[in-house]
Amino acid sequence: MGNSQSADTSTFWNPFANMSTLAGNAVTIVRGEGSTVFDAQGRGYLDALASLWYCNVGYGRTELAEAAAAQMREIAGFQTFEFYTNKPAEALCRRITDLASMSEAKVFLTPGGGSDAVDTAGKLARAYWRAVGEPDRQVIISRTHAYHGMNAYGTSLGGIPLLTEAYIPLVSQVEQVPWDDPNALEKSIELIGDGRVAAFFCEPVIGAGGVYPPPDGYLEQVRQICRRHNVLFVADEVITGYGRTGEWFASGRFGLDPDLITSAKGLSSGYLPIGAVIVSARVAEPFWRAGSTQVFRHGYTYSGHPAAAAVALANLDLIERERLIDRVRALEPVLSLAMDQLARHPAVSEVRSGTGLLAAVEIAEDVRAADPTVGQRLVLAIRERGVLTRLLRGVALQVSPPFVITEPEIALIAEAFAGALDEVAAGR
Ligand SMILES: Cc1ncc(COP(=O)(O)O)c(C=O)c1O
Repeated sequence: MGNSQSADTSTFWNPFANMSTLAGNAVTIVRGEGSTVFDAQGRGYLDALASLWYCNVGYGRTELAEAAAAQMREIAGFQTFEFYTNKPAEALCRRITDLASMSEAKVFLTPGGGSDAVDTAGKLARAYWRAVGEPDRQVIISRTHAYHGMNAYGTSLGGIPLLTEAYIPLVSQVEQVPWDDPNALEKSIELIGDGRVAAFFCEPVIGAGGVYPPPDGYLEQVRQICRRHNVLFVADEVITGYGRTGEWFASGRFGLDPDLITSAKGLSSGYLPIGAVIVSARVAEPFWRAGSTQVFRHGYTYSGHPAAAAVALANLDLIERERLIDRVRALEPVLSLAMDQLARHPAVSEVRSGTGLLAAVEIAEDVRAADPTVGQRLVLAIRERGVLTRLLRGVALQVSPPFVITEPEIALIAEAFAGALDEVAAGR
């Protein structure tokens, strides 16, 4: 099955991999087209993941390569610390605030993706309260099942114990509440003390924790609670931003009016790495006000990278021109219907779907208890059927295809899942 370099010759250390068992089994991906990627042997796989929730416009978009090349011919990179700026970064920030319908907002660009955006937002939330004379507001609250990336703030805010317990405490003054209980958030704020909570971090749809769409009314209620207690509401839209829920931002779909939005992935569809923190007028004001002496002392070598910004702009153009967000809305019920049928399978306890092009198929607890390897065996059996998925939090299979996926391809994903479930349940 493996087609990479053998164990003894590879020096590439895969993220999140057991390198002792991966040896000789890695799959070398060489090319992509539409929703399909190809390995070094020329075998095609329908990518039900859009890589890691990001290749929204699909693979093989030469115009994005051309946008990068054109910018690189002018100037590929130049720093933006203190005085310097560049046209693609300026244009991108304006475009993002327009798309987010946050007209007075500002944008802080990050180079590495979502983790940088989350750490930027965490630091900015704390810096904001110091800047407005409330330095005691330092506590940040997040949710169980949350995934906010792997930098220090994101790791500390994460709600998946396996990913955090080896490292925390990294960032102090971080609290967690159950993912689905608005009252727990309010109680937690009251317990900590109104004047001590800086921000609440919230994925509108929990992603890596297992694809949990928000319970009815949940987001509206936590938004209200944050308003009531003057706590900044940070929408982590690293997955949901730029169309995945059928609106430019899930914050728009759910009417959230966030104080900060973190975003990355779909901003460039992964053609080059880039992220963005969208900062509401309220949070920007103390730093941008005429005569202010407040400086946000934070930034990365590649913040506002011109080539990455040019690619992001071309990617947003493409999403608009091809009306891909309308397409997500149209495909939402198609994906739901196809995946929901799997809920009848005895090895499946639940299918979560219905918010854009996002779904998860949860493996029944008794099946996992009887065979702890069942999840990984399913991932491999589905891959053998030519479809790529992966296991979330050890319990559920991820579905988050590119926006260009077709209805027959969605049917193929569901078919591959069903076949693999039958095979694995039968113990073959
Ligand atoms: C909601 C959320 N926040 C942050 C991140 C971190 O993004 P990255 O891996 O690009 O650093 C992710 C990645 O999946 C994410 O899903």
